[in-house]
Amino acid sequence: MLWRAQSLTLLSGQPFGLERERALFLGQCRPQAAERWLDAGTSAGFYAGVLAAQGCAVLAADLSPAMLREGQRRETSPLIDWALLNLESSGLPDASFDGVTVGATLNETNDPARFLGELARVLRPGGQLWLMYVARTGGPGQTALSTLGGLNFFDPAWTGLQLPQLRRRMAFRSGNVQFEHFLKEAGPDTDL
Ligand SMILES: C[S@@+](CC[C@H](N)C(=O)[O-])C[C@H]1O[C@@H](n2cnc3c(N)ncnc32)[C@H](O)[C@@H]1O
Repeated sequence: MLWRAQSLTLLSGQPFGLERERALFLGQCRPQAAERWLDAGTSAGFYAGVLAAQGCAVLAADLSPAMLREGQRRETSPLIDWALLNLESSGLPDASFDGVTVGATLNETNDPARFLGELARVLRPGGQLWLMYVARTGGPGQTALSTLGGLNFFDPAWTGLQLPQLRRRMAFRSGNVQFEHFLKEAGPDTDL
């Protein structure tokens, strides 16, 4: 997964390897064995593999059959189920996951607001959401990528606005790469 580590290093403008990303995620989210997680836009399965190594059951979902095949080739844990899904309208049940990981899928999805709304819906009260995305700089490179490549870039204030039921616990920026950790508030009648 060299491309993945290199792309993050390029985007963040400083060495940022997969080990550092894995440690940041595990340190913040502390996923527990037997929890059920959704890896949203799993691509080659980086977060799915990290979660399975902790003993979590993972639904690794992507709308690209080719990327799902690549993920299955790289990550062979029996704790990972693979699903061809558009997570903007997945049909997954409400409150069915303890956690959701999003490694840069927010930048690629067609309707990012709808995507985040769906992820908040499938998260149980008390569950956690991990976002990694390329933040907006307003520079000409990003403008070209938005116009020609259909990519989207965000300010942290924007992600927070899309997630009114969630509370941001942590935000960390390395160059243009933004990491955020949210918790879904428990309702007044919900036992955590
Ligand atoms: C940047 S890659 C993800 C990288 C991966 N999460 C990681 O951390 O290494 C974005 C992936 O999201 C998938 N994707 C984009 N929009 C999606 C959507 N609405 N539902 C599911 N997958 C989506 C793409 O097919 C692509 O494989």
